[in-house]
Amino acid sequence: MPPLPTLATPRLVLRPFHASDAAEVQRLAGDREVSATTLRLPHPYPDGLAEAWIATHAEDWRRGLAARFAITRDGVLLGAIGLELTPEHDRGELGYWLGRAFWGQGYATEAARAVVRFGFELLHLHRIQAHHFVRNPASGRVLLKAGLRSEGVRRGAFVKEGLAEDVVVYARLSDDPPFTDDHEATL
Ligand SMILES: CC(C)(COP(=O)(O)OP(=O)(O)OC[C@H]1O[C@@H](n2cnc3c(N)ncnc32)[C@H](O)[C@@H]1OP(=O)(O)O)[C@@H](O)C(=O)NCCC(=O)NCCS
Repeated sequence: MPPLPTLATPRLVLRPFHASDAAEVQRLAGDREVSATTLRLPHPYPDGLAEAWIATHAEDWRRGLAARFAITRDGVLLGAIGLELTPEHDRGELGYWLGRAFWGQGYATEAARAVVRFGFELLHLHRIQAHHFVRNPASGRVLLKAGLRSEGVRRGAFVKEGLAEDVVVYARLSDDPPFTDDHEATL
């Protein structure tokens, strides 16, 4: 397996995480507003977790289990995006978060489009899916604009801090019709 590539978009560079990113990951992901709509980010964000998480990346990529990228602009770490892979089904689960200061500027959409393209063209996935909490419609917009479409709501499918969450499932298949910017208008 070659090393995880770096992906470039008009404004962003999506690159592998380095151990030296850990403090900034903890600072950004440690924001209550960032963790509140994610399944996996704990709050408070414990010391050592970012280092331990980044330390899994190279081996998980080598074993075909995950492709995780730092979202950066001009050398500044904005957030994280990745695909958790299920090789036996040629499937990837897309997930992402951005530091609060970087919301609302189209960065998640730009990064998601690049990672979806990477998943189909380089990893040859058949299906890329994602889940977002119903109470997090901004993530639904990102997924729609990245070419995924809603497959419906799974009621109470995940528990976050003791509360059952309804989630919307989005997916795109490799043989779906070509994605165009008016895709969202057709749904
Ligand atoms: C969700 C998140 C990644 C979005 O990142 P972002 O860079 O701000 O996203 P974009 O700017 O690319 O797009 C956001 C879209 O959501 C829309 N949006 C924002 N808040 C919204 C709301 N309350 N209701 C509906 N749409 C909303 C924006 O208008 C935009 O859509 P548009 O371009 O069609 O107008 C970011 O808010 C985040 O990191 N949240 C915390 C972590 C998280 O929820 N991760 C996803 C878990 S599934």
